[in-house]
Amino acid sequence: MSREKKDRIFTDAERALGRELATLYSLILHHRRLYDDLDSPEVSDAEFDNLKLRAQIIENELVVSEEDLFSVRQLVGAPSTSSLAKIIHVKPMLSLDNAFDVADVEDFVARVRRFLNLAEDAPVTLTAEPKIDGLSCSLRYENGVLVQAATRGDGQVGEDVTANVRTIADIPEWLTSAAPATFEIRGEIYMAKADFAALNARAESEGTQAFANPRNAAAGSLRQKDARVTASRPLRFLAHGWGEVSVLPANSQMGVMQAIANWGVPVSDALIRADDAPAALAHYRSIEAARADLPFDIDGVVYKVDDLEYQRRLGFVAKAPRWAVAHKFPAE
Ligand code: IVH
Repeated sequence: MSREKKDRIFTDAERALGRELATLYSLILHHRRLYDDLDSPEVSDAEFDNLKLRAQIIENELVVSEEDLFSVRQLVGAPSTSSLAKIIHVKPMLSLDNAFDVADVEDFVARVRRFLNLAEDAPVTLTAEPKIDGLSCSLRYENGVLVQAATRGDGQVGEDVTANVRTIADIPEWLTSAAPATFEIRGEIYMAKADFAALNARAESEGTQAFANPRNAAAGSLRQKDARVTASRPLRFLAHGWGEVSVLPANSQMGVMQAIANWGVPVSDALIRADDAPAALAHYRSIEAARADLPFDIDGVVYKVDDLEYQRRLGFVAKAPRWAVAHKFPAE
């Protein structure tokens, strides 16, 4: 049986090269624009040529046959077809481990206690909030001003959607009160169910392509080359965490989320602090009961260890933090 072209499995080393190549592509694009369009180069011709040379070397290393071209373009994020520039995340954007039942959640808390060398009955305060079914986005504020917005991408390298994000009313250009020098707010961009239905009804009447679900509609609306298209789409935002920061405004998950809300960025009104796992599970049940009536799609409840010193000690495994878990709802 012939292998599908896109089935090539990359090693970790090849993935790292792919990330480097994505960065090189965006640097080359950046310098070419400065040179061609703005007549104000930042680097010498020799430095520019070195970037191209390094990109060429990596391409030769990765593309071992003609069939590989497609796989490598996918790995690198298809720079030749994507018009959005690449952004490297200073702090990677991670995913979450899943829990499917009460026993999985209890295991999560037990693992946390074991890792932290806490007694079996030691209190572990959690936060609990809806898991929004959208796409994650990192908003970089410098001295309280929005300077950059990036999609998650592969977690290491995302796409520059700054112009698009500036069209979303929920996302402020300025934070309301004195914010740290650098603060990346991370959260979910999503489309409300009613807005999605209206958008699809319009697409149908105009004979254009409808979207499969609100999540796809949100992703397709955000990742537009022309930000005017994004502006015409009803996108929303809810913060659920942070990336690179110069200083933290509190020493708990809940405290930082409250600071983010005070700065004027929307945070879920169903975010609570739960003193123990039973309290977190009770919140899960109440959110699950309200699920159908919520204005947007959710697919579970996320629990996070509230104490940030505990979070620091717990750290990460592979691509997910040890201090958080997504308790998924059964498929609807
Ligand atoms: S916390 C360090 N909280 O779910 C991990 N994620 O399956 C940070 N998501 O990539 C994620 N709602 O895009 C967190 N309340 C929430 C969330 C949430 C949705 C998304 C997020 C993440 C994905 C992981």
